[in-house]
Amino acid sequence: MRRKLAAGNWKMHGLAADLAEATALARAHPAPTVDVLLCPPATLICRMVGALARTPVAVGAQDCHASVSGAHTGDISAAMLADAGACHVILGHSERRADHGETSAQVAAKATAAHAAGLVAIVCLGETEAQRDAGQTLAVVSEQLRQSLPESADAENTVIAYEPVWAIGTGRTPTLEQIAEVHDHLRGLLPDPAIRLLYGGSVKPANAADIFAIANVDGALVGGAALKAADFGAIVAALEAAEGGAG
Ligand code: PGA
Repeated sequence: MRRKLAAGNWKMHGLAADLAEATALARAHPAPTVDVLLCPPATLICRMVGALARTPVAVGAQDCHASVSGAHTGDISAAMLADAGACHVILGHSERRADHGETSAQVAAKATAAHAAGLVAIVCLGETEAQRDAGQTLAVVSEQLRQSLPESADAENTVIAYEPVWAIGTGRTPTLEQIAEVHDHLRGLLPDPAIRLLYGGSVKPANAADIFAIANVDGALVGGAALKAADFGAIVAALEAAEGGAG
């Protein structure tokens, strides 16, 4: 059975004082029955790893460079993230695809680098609102999946996050039927059917249980609601309840 994963993406939020939210989360969930991951900004990775030592909450990063090292001012390699204590890295988030023009081919190269460094790659994909309105959602996510996943991808080293661009940070979510349709479709395309499929985009305590009840949803990638231990903890609890129901 696929182990469920609650992953929090802090994006460009978080100073040292906010590590208290991470430790509060770990205190409230000392023995979660699902995997729990927080991805803070790179500046906090080392300190969060230290703060969460001997807790089950893992720490990940939000991006990496495709090279191991080199003349790339401002960039961080997957090996550096692993060295800092990260175990996962989010790749191809729509904000990086939009803000930095990242292509799916670049995402695949980054995922290859992440795998080589021993990191689990959380590869994000999702349609824009215009693409959904044009009836292109399944075609868009199929193509993104095909181009963003490297040869090395398997269930141990790769997680997919379906995140409709128009649902990220907007408070809007697809219907449960729409989420199920995309997840069912993606499951059929995965090179390894045991790869976990997360939903992301405005997941919050109020809608988490309904989303986690969908068959092919193996957890969530959470932005805004992952910044506060109480909110993210409620989402972790909803995922644990869904796993209990499924098992
Ligand atoms: P959101 O962000 O939960 O704030 O919508 C999700 C994401 O971007 O991963």
